[in-house]
Amino acid sequence: MTVTLGEGHTPLLPAPRLTARLGVEVWLKCEGANPTGSFKDRGMAVAVSRALEHGAPGVVCASTGNTAASASAYAARAGLRAIVITARGAVARGKVAQAVAAGAEIREVDGSFDDAHREARRLAAEEGFVNVNSVNPDRIEGQSGAAVEVVEQLGGLPDVLALPFGGGGNTVAYARGFGEALPRFLLGEAQRRVDTFASAIRIPTPVHRTEVDDVLARSGGAIVSLGEEQLRRAWQALAREEGVFCEPASAAGIAALEATPQPAGSRVVCVITGHGLKDPDAVAA
Ligand code: F0G
Repeated sequence: MTVTLGEGHTPLLPAPRLTARLGVEVWLKCEGANPTGSFKDRGMAVAVSRALEHGAPGVVCASTGNTAASASAYAARAGLRAIVITARGAVARGKVAQAVAAGAEIREVDGSFDDAHREARRLAAEEGFVNVNSVNPDRIEGQSGAAVEVVEQLGGLPDVLALPFGGGGNTVAYARGFGEALPRFLLGEAQRRVDTFASAIRIPTPVHRTEVDDVLARSGGAIVSLGEEQLRRAWQALAREEGVFCEPASAAGIAALEATPQPAGSRVVCVITGHGLKDPDAVAA
């Protein structure tokens, strides 16, 4: 049985004010329009479908919040248990609400995302739960569909793909989806990986680092390390100039683009990874 909540087919919107300001043609792939409000749903649909097929008792993940919200919803849909492991106090309010509402079991660890990830892998190995973090190849396969959509919607390959860089799973998935010919990958990461206000990318050690380096080498891309103010300004501007309200981490691709001028007229797709309602406290702060 395929477990679906209607993920994918998200809008690709032109961004006229960013385009005028930056001198490149900017498009926004609005992944916050997925069922639980982030890009994670694409891969979660595949990973939870496979877990159900294999008769697993449940799924487990470590998360900064969005994977947790997505795993909880898809597990509920499938009739499976979900255990989500988070760093204590580090998850935005909307995402916790989503996991609680879906009936997931939430376990907090004293430590970082890396510690939570270790614990998730241990639980998977010891209790037969399926780990639905992006180390699960079904997640990558599902998320790769976003690249195919971008090419369809744009009528061709963009020159540049700009997106946030947390653990790197999404980068690997887009590269997989594009296939042989890749756009230049521009990855925005937080300088303060451990405690950035963009809580979704509070990931000390990117698990896909080696594969990401390979994508950058093949695509002529780069990682841009962003300060808190750069992240904050890009996030605010996106809502104010284009009406697209995302969570702070989701504007990291835009911030990377702003910091790295591209040849005039380049066609740039920025992946806006999650909805703004996930993290209302970021606005209040
Ligand atoms: N943007 C958002 C909104 C995210 O939630 C994440 C990762 C990323 C970007 C980074 O993507 O890890 O594939 O490079 N969130 C994970 C989670 C860690 O647990 O929800 P990446």
